[in-house]
Amino acid sequence: MHVLLDVLEKAQKKGVAIGHFNVADLVLLKAAFEAARELNVPVLVGASRGERAFMGVDQIAALVRSLRGEFDFPIFLNADHTHSLPEALEAARAGFDSVVFDASALPFEQNVRQTKEAVEALKAIKPAILVEGELGDIGVGSEIHEEAPDLAKGLTDPAEAKQFAEATGIDTLAPAVGNMHGMLKSMVRGETRKHLDIARIAEIKKAARVLLTLHGGSGTDDEDLRKAIAAGINVVHINTELRVAWRRGLEEGLARQPNEVIPYKILSSAVESVKQVARSRLRLFNGDGVTREIVA
Ligand code: G3H
Ligand code: ZN
Repeated sequence: MHVLLDVLEKAQKKGVAIGHFNVADLVLLKAAFEAARELNVPVLVGASRGERAFMGVDQIAALVRSLRGEFDFPIFLNADHTHSLPEALEAARAGFDSVVFDASALPFEQNVRQTKEAVEALKAIKPAILVEGELGDIGVGSEIHEEAPDLAKGLTDPAEAKQFAEATGIDTLAPAVGNMHGMLKSMVRGETRKHLDIARIAEIKKAARVLLTLHGGSGTDDEDLRKAIAAGINVVHINTELRVAWRRGLEEGLARQPNEVIPYKILSSAVESVKQVARSRLRLFNGDGVTREIVA
């Protein structure tokens, strides 16, 4: 049986991180799963509110469960950025392995109160579920932004992270450490990269003593990602890079076969395009060399 907490703890001991890829359709799910299987590393797929609404909460849970069972493979499902207790509970009841309870837009005390309530309610119905809380400002929207938002004031303070983790009982913390959701146009063109506050990550890890997730991974400098993992990041979220690859792959598939109407012949280009990104990110998160041993 594959258990997400065991996989994360083993990865932490090995000094590697688990890749988290958002999925909104079968193309993205197939690409994430096939990339992980090819490299023989565990993978976490996530569905945000919009992605869950599009795929169906029970339906995405059934698909991931079926892949894990049929292939005896460590693929797990995360309810990404839930903002209310009912939607978090809905995901837990459907069988999600983890939930991001994101009350980070609220003042600290309210964030603590709501996150603590969510941890207690979620663990009451599913003790093994992992609950992630969020502290700091990492912006919104896994899309292409015109301008960089000013998030400098919203960086996570290590002392607050410790207080937050202890008061809420979260398993995992998502901090703001120079990361942001989405990509700037210059990042999509490969001209600029996001940079992370590595010292802050290390301080947060030391103070909070919980698992850490890096959100907003798209467009981040490779070397910064390696250092962030060494400093204590356990999970890295990638979404916009996959969305860009999905669109490019689809456009290529349509352009190459202008008269084709069979969906799987067109969509296979999109699967391949997304898979390339997932594969390269998984390689990096797993220490580039990627051992052939499954971390499970
Ligand atoms: O929760 C989703 C992620 O944090 C993705 O962020 O679109 O910048 O990769 P990204
Ligand atoms: Zn996120």
